[in-house]
Amino acid sequence: MRSIFGNPIVYHALQSAVGEQKVAPFLERSQLKSGCRLLEIGCGPGIHAHLFSSYDYLGIDISEKYIQHARSRHQLAFEVADATSRKWAANEFDAVFIHSVLHHLSDSQTLSVFDRIVEGLKPDGLVYLTDLVLPNTYSLSQLLARIDRGDFARELTHWRELLETRFRIEWIQELSVGFLKVEFWKMFYAELRPRDTSH
Ligand SMILES: C[S@@+](CC[C@H](N)C(=O)[O-])C[C@H]1O[C@@H](n2cnc3c(N)ncnc32)[C@H](O)[C@@H]1O
Repeated sequence: MRSIFGNPIVYHALQSAVGEQKVAPFLERSQLKSGCRLLEIGCGPGIHAHLFSSYDYLGIDISEKYIQHARSRHQLAFEVADATSRKWAANEFDAVFIHSVLHHLSDSQTLSVFDRIVEGLKPDGLVYLTDLVLPNTYSLSQLLARIDRGDFARELTHWRELLETRFRIEWIQELSVGFLKVEFWKMFYAELRPRDTSH
Protein backbone atom coordinates (compact mmCIF):
# COMPACT_ATOMS: atom_id res chain seq x y z
CA MET A 1 0.00 0.00 0.00
CA ARG A 2 2.86 2.39 0.90
CA SER A 3 4.34 1.83 -2.55
CA ILE A 4 1.09 2.93 -4.19
CA PHE A 5 1.35 6.31 -2.43
CA GLY A 6 5.08 6.38 -3.19
CA ASN A 7 4.32 6.27 -6.91
CA PRO A 8 4.82 9.89 -8.11
CA ILE A 9 1.82 9.71 -10.47
CA VAL A 10 -0.54 8.55 -7.72
CA TYR A 11 1.00 11.00 -5.23
CA HIS A 12 0.66 13.97 -7.59
CA ALA A 13 -2.90 12.99 -8.60
CA LEU A 14 -3.93 12.82 -4.94
CA GLN A 15 -2.11 16.02 -4.02
CA SER A 16 -3.67 17.98 -6.87
CA ALA A 17 -7.11 16.69 -5.82
CA VAL A 18 -6.72 17.58 -2.13
CA GLY A 19 -3.94 20.21 -2.13
CA GLU A 20 -6.35 23.14 -1.96
CA GLN A 21 -8.08 21.70 1.11
CA LYS A 22 -4.73 21.43 2.88
CA VAL A 23 -3.62 25.03 2.30
CA ALA A 24 -7.08 26.62 2.67
CA PRO A 25 -6.64 27.82 6.29
CA PHE A 26 -3.23 29.32 5.50
CA LEU A 27 -4.67 31.15 2.49
CA GLU A 28 -7.69 32.35 4.48
CA ARG A 29 -5.80 33.50 7.55
CA SER A 30 -2.23 34.50 6.76
CA GLN A 31 -1.55 38.20 6.47
CA LEU A 32 1.95 38.14 5.05
CA LYS A 33 3.07 41.41 3.55
CA SER A 34 4.38 41.47 0.01
CA GLY A 35 8.19 41.37 0.06
CA CYS A 36 8.45 39.77 3.50
CA ARG A 37 11.25 37.27 4.06
CA LEU A 38 9.72 33.79 4.06
CA LEU A 39 11.41 30.43 4.62
CA GLU A 40 9.69 27.26 3.45
CA ILE A 41 11.07 24.11 5.09
CA GLY A 42 10.76 20.82 3.18
CA CYS A 43 9.49 22.55 0.05
CA GLY A 44 9.80 19.33 -1.99
CA PRO A 45 9.61 19.93 -5.74
CA GLY A 46 8.00 23.33 -5.14
CA ILE A 47 4.38 22.22 -4.76
CA HIS A 48 3.42 25.44 -2.93
CA ALA A 49 5.95 27.84 -4.47
CA HIS A 50 3.36 29.45 -6.75
CA LEU A 51 1.74 30.90 -3.61
CA PHE A 52 4.93 32.73 -2.66
CA SER A 53 6.04 34.65 -5.75
CA SER A 54 5.40 38.06 -4.15
CA TYR A 55 7.61 37.29 -1.13
CA ASP A 56 11.36 37.27 -0.56
CA TYR A 57 11.20 33.48 -0.51
CA LEU A 58 13.71 30.73 0.20
CA GLY A 59 12.67 27.10 -0.10
CA ILE A 60 14.87 24.39 1.40
CA ASP A 61 14.71 20.63 1.10
CA ILE A 62 17.05 17.78 1.94
CA SER A 63 16.46 16.19 -1.48
CA GLU A 64 18.72 17.45 -4.27
CA LYS A 65 16.37 15.96 -6.86
CA TYR A 66 13.37 17.89 -5.50
CA ILE A 67 15.35 21.14 -5.37
CA GLN A 68 16.49 20.72 -8.99
CA HIS A 69 12.88 20.17 -9.96
CA ALA A 70 11.71 23.23 -7.98
CA ARG A 71 14.38 25.42 -9.62
CA SER A 72 13.32 24.26 -13.07
CA ARG A 73 9.71 25.32 -12.42
CA HIS A 74 9.97 28.54 -10.38
CA GLN A 75 11.99 31.77 -10.50
CA LEU A 76 12.55 31.67 -6.75
CA ALA A 77 15.46 30.82 -4.45
CA PHE A 78 15.89 27.18 -3.41
CA GLU A 79 18.62 25.44 -1.46
CA VAL A 80 19.49 21.85 -0.63
CA ALA A 81 19.69 21.83 3.17
CA ASP A 82 18.87 19.68 6.17
CA ALA A 83 16.43 21.65 8.32
CA THR A 84 17.64 19.93 11.49
CA SER A 85 21.13 21.43 11.14
CA ARG A 86 20.99 24.45 8.78
CA LYS A 87 21.92 27.50 10.85
CA TRP A 88 20.31 30.90 10.27
CA ALA A 89 21.32 34.41 11.24
CA ALA A 90 19.22 35.96 14.01
CA ASN A 91 16.09 37.78 12.79
CA GLU A 92 16.53 36.51 9.24
CA PHE A 93 12.90 35.55 8.58
CA ASP A 94 9.52 37.20 9.03
CA ALA A 95 7.74 33.89 8.63
CA VAL A 96 8.28 30.16 8.17
CA PHE A 97 5.97 27.80 6.27
CA ILE A 98 6.20 24.03 6.87
CA HIS A 99 3.76 21.72 5.19
CA SER A 100 3.59 17.94 5.65
CA VAL A 101 7.24 17.58 6.66
CA LEU A 102 7.48 16.87 10.38
CA HIS A 103 5.65 13.54 10.32
CA HIS A 104 8.77 12.31 8.50
CA LEU A 105 10.97 13.34 11.44
CA SER A 106 11.36 11.88 14.94
CA ASP A 107 10.59 14.00 18.00
CA SER A 108 14.27 14.86 18.53
CA GLN A 109 14.74 15.79 14.84
CA THR A 110 11.55 17.88 15.01
CA LEU A 111 12.83 19.73 18.07
CA SER A 112 16.11 20.41 16.23
CA VAL A 113 14.10 21.92 13.35
CA PHE A 114 12.20 24.07 15.88
CA ASP A 115 15.47 25.24 17.44
CA ARG A 116 16.83 26.25 14.02
CA ILE A 117 13.58 28.13 13.31
CA VAL A 118 13.67 29.98 16.62
CA GLU A 119 17.24 31.07 15.87
CA GLY A 120 16.30 32.60 12.53
CA LEU A 121 12.78 33.91 13.12
CA LYS A 122 12.12 37.48 14.22
CA PRO A 123 10.61 37.66 17.74
CA ASP A 124 7.28 38.76 16.26
CA GLY A 125 7.59 36.30 13.35
CA LEU A 126 5.07 33.55 12.68
CA VAL A 127 5.37 29.87 11.82
CA TYR A 128 2.62 28.42 9.63
CA LEU A 129 2.58 24.69 10.19
CA THR A 130 0.39 22.02 8.64
CA ASP A 131 0.89 18.31 9.29
CA LEU A 132 -0.65 14.88 9.56
CA VAL A 133 -2.66 13.80 12.62
CA LEU A 134 -2.96 10.19 13.75
CA PRO A 135 -6.66 9.86 14.70
CA ASN A 136 -7.22 7.97 17.97
CA THR A 137 -10.23 6.01 16.68
CA TYR A 138 -10.40 3.31 13.99
CA SER A 139 -11.10 4.98 10.67
CA LEU A 140 -9.85 5.26 7.11
CA SER A 141 -7.85 8.34 8.11
CA GLN A 142 -6.21 6.39 10.95
CA LEU A 143 -5.30 3.57 8.54
CA LEU A 144 -3.86 6.00 5.98
CA ALA A 145 -1.85 7.81 8.68
CA ARG A 146 -0.44 4.47 9.88
CA ILE A 147 0.69 3.41 6.40
CA ASP A 148 1.94 6.87 5.42
CA ARG A 149 5.55 7.07 4.20
CA GLY A 150 6.25 9.32 7.18
CA ASP A 151 6.75 7.18 10.29
CA PHE A 152 5.81 9.91 12.79
CA ALA A 153 2.15 10.82 12.34
CA ARG A 154 1.16 11.91 15.85
CA GLU A 155 -2.03 12.35 17.81
CA LEU A 156 -2.97 15.99 18.21
CA THR A 157 -2.13 15.97 21.94
CA HIS A 158 1.39 14.80 21.08
CA TRP A 159 1.76 17.52 18.42
CA ARG A 160 0.65 20.14 20.96
CA GLU A 161 3.20 18.95 23.51
CA LEU A 162 5.99 19.20 20.93
CA LEU A 163 4.90 22.63 19.69
CA GLU A 164 4.60 24.05 23.19
CA THR A 165 8.20 23.19 24.06
CA ARG A 166 9.36 25.98 21.72
CA PHE A 167 6.34 28.05 20.64
CA ARG A 168 3.22 29.82 21.79
CA ILE A 169 0.27 28.43 19.86
CA GLU A 170 -1.63 31.43 18.48
CA TRP A 171 -4.10 29.37 16.47
CA ILE A 172 -4.69 25.68 15.88
CA GLN A 173 -7.41 23.82 14.02
CA GLU A 174 -8.01 20.32 12.75
CA LEU A 175 -8.52 19.75 9.04
CA SER A 176 -10.49 16.97 7.48
CA VAL A 177 -9.11 16.25 4.03
CA GLY A 178 -10.87 13.92 1.61
CA PHE A 179 -13.34 13.38 -1.19
CA LEU A 180 -17.13 13.25 -1.28
CA LYS A 181 -17.39 13.78 2.51
CA VAL A 182 -15.10 10.79 3.20
CA GLU A 183 -12.15 11.76 5.39
CA PHE A 184 -8.89 10.40 3.97
CA TRP A 185 -6.50 12.41 6.12
CA LYS A 186 -6.86 14.20 9.43
CA MET A 187 -4.45 17.11 9.56
CA PHE A 188 -3.90 20.21 11.65
CA TYR A 189 -2.99 23.80 10.85
CA ALA A 190 -1.24 25.95 13.44
CA GLU A 191 0.16 29.46 13.72
CA LEU A 192 3.03 29.69 16.18
CA ARG A 193 5.17 32.41 17.71
CA PRO A 194 8.52 31.87 19.40
CA ARG A 195 8.14 31.73 23.17
CA ASP A 196 9.33 34.86 24.90
CA THR A 197 12.43 33.59 26.70
CA SER A 198 13.48 37.00 28.03
CA HIS A 199 11.65 36.53 31.40
C1 LIG B 1 5.72 14.71 2.22
S1 LIG B 1 6.96 15.74 1.52
C2 LIG B 1 6.13 17.32 1.59
C3 LIG B 1 6.61 18.25 0.51
C4 LIG B 1 5.85 19.59 0.45
N1 LIG B 1 6.10 20.38 1.65
C5 LIG B 1 4.36 19.36 0.28
O1 LIG B 1 3.58 19.84 1.12
O2 LIG B 1 3.96 18.71 -0.70
C6 LIG B 1 8.19 15.92 2.83
C7 LIG B 1 9.39 16.72 2.38
O3 LIG B 1 10.25 16.95 3.48
C8 LIG B 1 11.58 16.86 3.02
N2 LIG B 1 12.46 16.62 4.18
C9 LIG B 1 12.48 15.53 4.98
N3 LIG B 1 13.41 15.67 5.94
C10 LIG B 1 13.98 16.90 5.76
C11 LIG B 1 15.01 17.61 6.43
N4 LIG B 1 15.65 17.10 7.50
N5 LIG B 1 15.36 18.84 5.98
C12 LIG B 1 14.73 19.37 4.90
N6 LIG B 1 13.75 18.73 4.22
C13 LIG B 1 13.38 17.51 4.63
C14 LIG B 1 11.53 15.69 2.02
O4 LIG B 1 12.63 15.64 1.16
C15 LIG B 1 10.21 16.00 1.31
O5 LIG B 1 10.39 16.88 0.22
